[in-house]
Amino acid sequence: MARILLIGTATLDLVFGLDHFPGADEEMRARSLRVCRGGNAANTAVVLSQLGHETEFFGTLADAPETAVIERDFRVHGVAYGACPRLPGRPPTSAIYLSDARRSIVHYRDLPENSAEHFDSISPAAYDWIHFECRNVAVIAPVIRRFRALAPGVRISLELEKPRAEMELLYPWPNVLICSRGFAAHHQFTEPTAFLDWMRGKAPQAVLALGWGEVGAYGCAPDGAVFHAPAAQPETVVDTLGAGDTFNAGLLDALVKGGSPEMALWQGVTLAGRKCAIEGLHLEGLL
Ligand code: ADP
Ligand code: FRU
Repeated sequence: MARILLIGTATLDLVFGLDHFPGADEEMRARSLRVCRGGNAANTAVVLSQLGHETEFFGTLADAPETAVIERDFRVHGVAYGACPRLPGRPPTSAIYLSDARRSIVHYRDLPENSAEHFDSISPAAYDWIHFECRNVAVIAPVIRRFRALAPGVRISLELEKPRAEMELLYPWPNVLICSRGFAAHHQFTEPTAFLDWMRGKAPQAVLALGWGEVGAYGCAPDGAVFHAPAAQPETVVDTLGAGDTFNAGLLDALVKGGSPEMALWQGVTLAGRKCAIEGLHLEGLL
Protein backbone atom coordinates (compact mmCIF):
# COMPACT_ATOMS: atom_id res chain seq x y z
CA MET A 1 0.00 0.00 0.00
CA ALA A 2 1.17 3.51 -0.72
CA ARG A 3 1.82 6.68 1.28
CA ILE A 4 -0.35 9.34 -0.32
CA LEU A 5 -0.50 13.06 0.49
CA LEU A 6 -3.61 14.99 -0.63
CA ILE A 7 -3.41 18.77 -0.75
CA GLY A 8 -6.52 20.94 -0.98
CA THR A 9 -9.66 21.76 0.95
CA ALA A 10 -11.60 20.24 3.82
CA THR A 11 -15.09 21.69 4.15
CA LEU A 12 -18.07 21.56 6.46
CA ASP A 13 -20.97 20.24 4.37
CA LEU A 14 -24.62 20.80 5.34
CA VAL A 15 -26.41 18.31 3.11
CA PHE A 16 -30.18 18.78 2.86
CA GLY A 17 -32.33 16.02 1.33
CA LEU A 18 -35.24 17.74 -0.47
CA ASP A 19 -38.38 16.73 -2.36
CA HIS A 20 -37.72 19.51 -4.88
CA PHE A 21 -35.33 22.41 -5.26
CA PRO A 22 -36.58 25.61 -3.58
CA GLY A 23 -37.76 28.53 -5.68
CA ALA A 24 -37.17 32.17 -4.79
CA ASP A 25 -39.14 33.20 -1.68
CA GLU A 26 -40.13 29.58 -1.01
CA GLU A 27 -39.98 28.20 2.52
CA MET A 28 -39.82 24.44 2.75
CA ARG A 29 -38.96 21.61 5.10
CA ALA A 30 -36.08 19.27 4.25
CA ARG A 31 -36.53 15.49 4.43
CA SER A 32 -33.11 15.02 6.02
CA LEU A 33 -30.00 16.87 7.11
CA ARG A 34 -26.47 15.52 7.27
CA VAL A 35 -23.64 17.64 8.69
CA CYS A 36 -20.34 16.16 7.61
CA ARG A 37 -16.85 16.74 6.36
CA GLY A 38 -16.38 17.40 2.66
CA GLY A 39 -13.91 18.95 0.25
CA ASN A 40 -12.42 17.31 -2.83
CA ALA A 41 -8.94 16.37 -1.61
CA ALA A 42 -10.30 15.44 1.82
CA ASN A 43 -12.99 13.21 0.26
CA THR A 44 -10.42 11.50 -1.96
CA ALA A 45 -8.17 10.95 1.09
CA VAL A 46 -10.99 9.25 3.00
CA VAL A 47 -11.76 6.88 0.11
CA LEU A 48 -8.07 6.06 -0.48
CA SER A 49 -7.74 5.30 3.19
CA GLN A 50 -10.65 2.85 2.98
CA LEU A 51 -8.80 1.24 0.06
CA GLY A 52 -5.95 0.53 2.48
CA HIS A 53 -3.50 3.35 1.76
CA GLU A 54 -1.65 5.42 4.34
CA THR A 55 -3.14 8.83 3.61
CA GLU A 56 -2.47 12.33 4.85
CA PHE A 57 -4.44 15.50 4.18
CA PHE A 58 -2.74 18.89 4.00
CA GLY A 59 -4.80 22.07 3.87
CA THR A 60 -5.68 24.93 6.21
CA LEU A 61 -8.07 24.14 9.06
CA ALA A 62 -10.03 26.82 10.88
CA ASP A 63 -9.42 27.30 14.55
CA ALA A 64 -13.17 26.99 15.27
CA PRO A 65 -15.50 24.53 17.04
CA GLU A 66 -17.06 23.38 13.73
CA THR A 67 -13.68 21.98 12.67
CA ALA A 68 -14.34 19.12 15.12
CA VAL A 69 -16.67 17.58 12.50
CA ILE A 70 -13.83 17.54 9.98
CA GLU A 71 -11.24 16.20 12.41
CA ARG A 72 -13.54 13.47 13.74
CA ASP A 73 -14.15 12.13 10.25
CA PHE A 74 -10.43 12.13 9.43
CA ARG A 75 -9.79 10.20 12.66
CA VAL A 76 -12.57 7.69 11.92
CA HIS A 77 -10.98 6.94 8.55
CA GLY A 78 -7.37 7.03 9.71
CA VAL A 79 -6.42 10.05 7.57
CA ALA A 80 -3.49 11.94 9.15
CA TYR A 81 -4.00 15.72 9.37
CA GLY A 82 -1.55 16.78 12.11
CA ALA A 83 0.56 18.97 9.78
CA CYS A 84 -2.40 21.13 8.66
CA PRO A 85 -1.90 24.84 9.38
CA ARG A 86 -4.48 26.20 11.88
CA LEU A 87 -5.80 29.64 11.08
CA PRO A 88 -8.30 31.91 12.80
CA GLY A 89 -11.68 31.89 11.06
CA ARG A 90 -14.34 29.34 10.15
CA PRO A 91 -14.22 26.30 7.90
CA PRO A 92 -15.15 26.66 4.24
CA THR A 93 -18.83 25.72 4.30
CA SER A 94 -21.18 24.27 1.67
CA ALA A 95 -24.97 24.18 1.73
CA ILE A 96 -25.83 21.23 -0.49
CA TYR A 97 -29.31 20.40 -1.77
CA LEU A 98 -29.99 16.86 -2.96
CA SER A 99 -33.18 16.08 -4.86
CA ASP A 100 -34.01 13.37 -7.40
CA ALA A 101 -30.37 12.30 -7.79
CA ARG A 102 -29.38 15.89 -8.60
CA ARG A 103 -27.49 18.32 -6.42
CA SER A 104 -26.88 22.04 -6.02
CA ILE A 105 -23.96 23.39 -4.01
CA VAL A 106 -23.65 26.86 -2.46
CA HIS A 107 -20.12 27.28 -1.18
CA TYR A 108 -18.65 29.99 1.02
CA ARG A 109 -15.01 30.41 1.95
CA ASP A 110 -13.07 33.15 3.68
CA LEU A 111 -10.40 30.97 5.29
CA PRO A 112 -7.02 31.60 3.60
CA GLU A 113 -5.46 28.77 1.59
CA ASN A 114 -2.04 27.26 2.34
CA SER A 115 0.74 29.83 1.95
CA ALA A 116 4.16 29.13 0.42
CA GLU A 117 5.69 29.02 3.93
CA HIS A 118 3.18 26.40 5.08
CA PHE A 119 4.63 23.99 2.53
CA ASP A 120 8.14 24.26 4.05
CA SER A 121 7.19 21.57 6.57
CA ILE A 122 6.37 19.02 3.83
CA SER A 123 9.05 16.57 2.82
CA PRO A 124 7.95 15.11 -0.54
CA ALA A 125 10.29 12.11 -0.38
CA ALA A 126 8.15 10.79 2.50
CA TYR A 127 5.35 9.95 0.02
CA ASP A 128 4.84 7.68 -2.97
CA TRP A 129 2.15 9.92 -4.45
CA ILE A 130 1.14 13.55 -3.96
CA HIS A 131 -2.22 14.81 -5.20
CA PHE A 132 -3.09 18.50 -5.53
CA GLU A 133 -6.36 20.31 -6.06
CA CYS A 134 -5.59 23.15 -8.47
CA ARG A 135 -6.32 26.16 -6.26
CA ASN A 136 -3.88 29.01 -5.47
CA VAL A 137 -1.65 28.55 -8.53
CA ALA A 138 0.89 31.23 -7.54
CA VAL A 139 1.65 29.24 -4.40
CA ILE A 140 1.45 25.68 -5.67
CA ALA A 141 3.39 26.15 -8.96
CA PRO A 142 6.76 26.62 -7.20
CA VAL A 143 5.83 23.95 -4.67
CA ILE A 144 5.23 21.34 -7.38
CA ARG A 145 8.51 22.25 -9.07
CA ARG A 146 10.36 22.01 -5.73
CA PHE A 147 8.76 18.65 -4.93
CA ARG A 148 9.85 17.36 -8.33
CA ALA A 149 13.43 18.49 -7.74
CA LEU A 150 13.61 17.11 -4.19
CA ALA A 151 11.84 13.81 -4.90
CA PRO A 152 12.07 12.92 -8.60
CA GLY A 153 10.51 9.50 -7.92
CA VAL A 154 7.31 10.77 -6.33
CA ARG A 155 4.30 10.72 -8.61
CA ILE A 156 2.11 13.80 -8.74
CA SER A 157 -1.52 14.22 -9.78
CA LEU A 158 -3.45 17.44 -10.17
CA GLU A 159 -7.20 17.98 -10.29
CA LEU A 160 -8.36 20.71 -12.68
CA GLU A 161 -11.95 21.32 -11.62
CA LYS A 162 -12.49 25.05 -12.08
CA PRO A 163 -10.63 27.66 -14.10
CA ARG A 164 -7.96 29.49 -12.08
CA ALA A 165 -5.66 32.34 -13.08
CA GLU A 166 -2.42 31.11 -14.72
CA MET A 167 -3.25 27.45 -14.12
CA GLU A 168 -1.49 26.50 -17.37
CA LEU A 169 1.81 27.04 -15.48
CA LEU A 170 1.07 23.76 -13.72
CA TYR A 171 0.33 21.58 -16.75
CA PRO A 172 3.91 20.43 -17.58
CA TRP A 173 4.65 18.96 -14.15
CA PRO A 174 2.17 16.27 -13.02
CA ASN A 175 2.12 12.61 -14.04
CA VAL A 176 -1.68 12.65 -14.00
CA LEU A 177 -4.18 15.43 -14.75
CA ILE A 178 -7.80 14.89 -13.74
CA CYS A 179 -10.15 17.29 -15.46
CA SER A 180 -13.85 18.03 -14.93
CA ARG A 181 -16.59 18.41 -17.50
CA GLY A 182 -17.04 21.99 -16.23
CA PHE A 183 -13.38 22.69 -16.93
CA ALA A 184 -13.74 21.33 -20.48
CA ALA A 185 -16.90 23.44 -20.93
CA HIS A 186 -15.03 26.53 -19.74
CA HIS A 187 -12.65 25.94 -22.67
CA GLN A 188 -15.68 25.68 -25.02
CA PHE A 189 -15.48 21.90 -25.43
CA THR A 190 -18.70 19.90 -25.51
CA GLU A 191 -17.05 16.77 -26.85
CA PRO A 192 -14.71 14.82 -24.51
CA THR A 193 -12.35 13.43 -27.15
CA ALA A 194 -11.75 16.86 -28.66
CA PHE A 195 -11.02 18.28 -25.21
CA LEU A 196 -8.54 15.49 -24.38
CA ASP A 197 -6.76 15.91 -27.72
CA TRP A 198 -6.41 19.63 -26.95
CA MET A 199 -5.30 19.01 -23.37
CA ARG A 200 -2.74 16.44 -24.50
CA GLY A 201 -1.01 19.18 -26.48
CA LYS A 202 -0.66 21.18 -23.24
CA ALA A 203 0.50 18.26 -21.04
CA PRO A 204 2.07 15.64 -23.32
CA GLN A 205 3.77 13.92 -20.35
CA ALA A 206 0.60 13.21 -18.39
CA VAL A 207 -2.06 10.54 -18.17
CA LEU A 208 -5.33 12.47 -18.62
CA ALA A 209 -8.70 11.63 -17.08
CA LEU A 210 -12.00 13.44 -17.59
CA GLY A 211 -15.18 12.77 -15.60
CA TRP A 212 -18.39 13.12 -17.61
CA GLY A 213 -21.10 12.58 -14.99
CA GLU A 214 -23.64 9.82 -15.68
CA VAL A 215 -21.93 9.13 -19.04
CA GLY A 216 -18.81 7.86 -17.23
CA ALA A 217 -15.25 9.01 -17.88
CA TYR A 218 -12.72 9.44 -20.68
CA GLY A 219 -8.98 9.18 -20.54
CA CYS A 220 -5.75 8.77 -22.45
CA ALA A 221 -2.16 7.77 -21.86
CA PRO A 222 0.52 10.20 -23.09
CA ASP A 223 1.06 8.28 -26.33
CA GLY A 224 -2.30 6.59 -26.82
CA ALA A 225 -5.80 7.02 -28.12
CA VAL A 226 -8.70 8.34 -26.06
CA PHE A 227 -10.73 5.65 -24.30
CA HIS A 228 -14.11 5.70 -22.56
CA ALA A 229 -15.29 3.88 -19.44
CA PRO A 230 -19.10 3.96 -19.25
CA ALA A 231 -20.58 4.86 -15.85
CA ALA A 232 -21.42 1.96 -13.57
CA GLN A 233 -25.10 2.72 -13.03
CA PRO A 234 -26.43 1.62 -9.64
CA GLU A 235 -30.03 0.40 -9.44
CA THR A 236 -30.96 3.61 -7.66
CA VAL A 237 -28.85 6.76 -7.63
CA VAL A 238 -29.07 7.99 -4.04
CA ASP A 239 -26.35 10.63 -3.75
CA THR A 240 -23.80 11.82 -6.31
CA LEU A 241 -22.06 14.24 -3.93
CA GLY A 242 -18.39 13.26 -3.90
CA ALA A 243 -18.74 10.91 -6.91
CA GLY A 244 -15.95 12.78 -8.67
CA ASP A 245 -13.70 12.59 -5.60
CA THR A 246 -14.42 8.85 -5.33
CA PHE A 247 -13.63 8.44 -9.04
CA ASN A 248 -10.29 10.17 -8.39
CA ALA A 249 -9.54 7.78 -5.52
CA GLY A 250 -10.30 4.70 -7.64
CA LEU A 251 -8.15 6.05 -10.46
CA LEU A 252 -5.20 6.90 -8.20
CA ASP A 253 -5.42 3.58 -6.35
CA ALA A 254 -5.09 1.66 -9.62
CA LEU A 255 -2.28 3.86 -10.97
CA VAL A 256 -0.24 3.78 -7.76
CA LYS A 257 -0.41 -0.03 -7.89
CA GLY A 258 0.96 0.02 -11.45
CA GLY A 259 -2.33 -0.48 -13.31
CA SER A 260 -2.72 0.83 -16.86
CA PRO A 261 -4.53 4.15 -17.40
CA GLU A 262 -7.42 2.29 -19.05
CA MET A 263 -7.79 -0.09 -16.13
CA ALA A 264 -7.53 2.84 -13.68
CA LEU A 265 -10.33 4.69 -15.48
CA TRP A 266 -12.48 1.58 -15.28
CA GLN A 267 -11.80 1.25 -11.54
CA GLY A 268 -12.62 4.94 -11.04
CA VAL A 269 -16.06 4.66 -12.63
CA THR A 270 -16.79 1.37 -10.85
CA LEU A 271 -16.06 2.87 -7.44
CA ALA A 272 -17.90 6.12 -8.25
CA GLY A 273 -20.96 4.13 -9.34
CA ARG A 274 -20.98 2.22 -6.04
CA LYS A 275 -20.68 5.50 -4.18
CA CYS A 276 -23.74 6.90 -6.01
CA ALA A 277 -25.85 4.08 -4.50
CA ILE A 278 -25.21 5.21 -0.92
CA GLU A 279 -25.29 8.39 1.14
CA GLY A 280 -21.86 9.76 1.95
CA LEU A 281 -18.47 8.11 1.56
CA HIS A 282 -18.52 5.17 3.97
CA LEU A 283 -17.72 2.60 1.32
CA GLU A 284 -16.73 -0.28 3.59
CA GLY A 285 -18.39 -3.44 2.36
CA LEU A 286 -18.65 -2.03 -1.19
CA LEU A 287 -14.94 -2.19 -2.05
P1 ADP B 1 -18.34 15.43 -9.87
O1 ADP B 1 -18.99 14.51 -8.85
O2 ADP B 1 -17.03 15.96 -9.37
O3 ADP B 1 -19.24 16.49 -10.42
P2 ADP B 1 -18.74 13.82 -12.26
O4 ADP B 1 -20.15 14.27 -12.31
O5 ADP B 1 -17.95 13.90 -13.52
O6 ADP B 1 -17.89 14.52 -11.10
O7 ADP B 1 -18.75 12.29 -11.81
C1 ADP B 1 -17.55 11.57 -11.61
C2 ADP B 1 -17.80 10.11 -11.92
O8 ADP B 1 -18.83 9.63 -11.08
C3 ADP B 1 -18.28 9.89 -13.35
O9 ADP B 1 -17.17 9.72 -14.20
C4 ADP B 1 -19.12 8.64 -13.21
O10 ADP B 1 -18.30 7.50 -13.32
C5 ADP B 1 -19.65 8.72 -11.78
N1 ADP B 1 -21.04 9.21 -11.78
C6 ADP B 1 -21.48 10.49 -11.69
N2 ADP B 1 -22.83 10.54 -11.73
C7 ADP B 1 -23.25 9.25 -11.84
C8 ADP B 1 -24.52 8.62 -11.93
N3 ADP B 1 -25.66 9.32 -11.93
N4 ADP B 1 -24.56 7.27 -12.03
C9 ADP B 1 -23.42 6.53 -12.04
N5 ADP B 1 -22.19 7.05 -11.98
C10 ADP B 1 -22.09 8.40 -11.87
C1 FRU C 1 -17.84 17.42 -3.36
C2 FRU C 1 -17.31 18.58 -2.55
C3 FRU C 1 -18.10 18.82 -1.29
C4 FRU C 1 -17.75 20.25 -1.00
C5 FRU C 1 -17.66 20.87 -2.39
C6 FRU C 1 -16.55 21.89 -2.47
O1 FRU C 1 -17.04 17.17 -4.48
O2 FRU C 1 -15.95 18.38 -2.23
O3 FRU C 1 -17.81 17.92 -0.25
O4 FRU C 1 -18.66 20.94 -0.22
O5 FRU C 1 -17.41 19.81 -3.29
O6 FRU C 1 -16.52 22.50 -3.73
